[in-house]
Amino acid sequence: MIVRAEGASWFDASGRRYVDLGASHGVGNLGASAPDVVRAIQAQAGELLYLGSGYESPVRTEFLRKLLSLLPPSFGSVFLSNSGTEAVEAAIKIARSATRRPKIVAARRGFHGRTLGALSATWRRELREPFEPLVPEFAHVGFNEPEDLESEVDERTALLLIEPVQGEGGVHVASAEYLRAARTVTERVGALLGFDEVQTGIGRTGRLFAFQHAGVVPDLLTLAKSLAGGVPIGATVTTPEVESRFQGSHHSTFGGSPLACAAGIAALETVVRDRLAERAERLGQLALDRLRGIRSERIREVRGLGLLLGVELRERVAPILAALEERGFLAISAGSTVLRLIPPLVIPEEDWAAGLAAVEEAIVRG
Ligand SMILES: Cc1ncc(COP(=O)(O)O)c(C=O)c1O
Repeated sequence: MIVRAEGASWFDASGRRYVDLGASHGVGNLGASAPDVVRAIQAQAGELLYLGSGYESPVRTEFLRKLLSLLPPSFGSVFLSNSGTEAVEAAIKIARSATRRPKIVAARRGFHGRTLGALSATWRRELREPFEPLVPEFAHVGFNEPEDLESEVDERTALLLIEPVQGEGGVHVASAEYLRAARTVTERVGALLGFDEVQTGIGRTGRLFAFQHAGVVPDLLTLAKSLAGGVPIGATVTTPEVESRFQGSHHSTFGGSPLACAAGIAALETVVRDRLAERAERLGQLALDRLRGIRSERIREVRGLGLLLGVELRERVAPILAALEERGFLAISAGSTVLRLIPPLVIPEEDWAAGLAAVEEAIVRG
């Protein structure tokens, strides 16, 4: 039971401090209650808390301008919602409507959310099965297997949807070759390429957006989690060309509220001003070296990009999480055997070093 938090420190009711190594599954890139975000929320709440989407508000205009200024110039259109799964739903609808094609191709092990459309793109059987039948015309291909793309992405395909780093699926980093192949095949058959950066976006992987590592620019980009520093938000970004082909309507009552937009402006300004992507790259590289140096038969592989790291074990991860919690460190899993380390990008260096030492101790000694 957590009652209070500050930066990367979480406190229980007894006042015991825990170091956050999970950032609430990627929401907390700026840490808990980032001061600039809190100030922006307080000011905006007193000014204009909610506004129906039929009206413009200066904060929404400013937030959209700021977000687009950080993206490649091909992007020009943003649909705002309230969560990652909604951002993905919008991407699916935009792709189907703009291409007038039915098929959505996603990757095995991928995770895209839990509403029915996003769930249909999600891979894990136990998440899907209780809710079947899901949405028709979804197919899955091997992740990091470019030749699979050739056979599945075809003239009936509206969208190829990929996470540049699979987070929930076990922390698997897409190769630049795979992302380039995805770009080539979608262009050839006239399908749209979508990158789901709900978890990897906003500095997490050492770039503001993970696709910048490979330099492959998609047609659709989904963002959420830390985009507004902890306030619910989702964004589906696309090109004016795709937007011009969209037919039909899509809408979200709370999407783009002044409160979320004000928080979003503060969050984006903080990430850029404090160079948090560069920090993620540096702390992530140190951690990869440190974790790869751990001598233990229990470790199968260490992988990751920036501060999205996975330690795959040859056994279940739950006891390691419990051992870490006992030592005052809160990490999360990615599947049953992968220890996922995604701390706030603002984690103090001494807490990060102590966290990595605790991971080593928990794995080596239990
Ligand atoms: C890549 C990705 N897409 C979509 C989602 C769904 O986001 P939300 O839980 O905000 O609906 C997640 C959540 O973990 C995610 O990691």
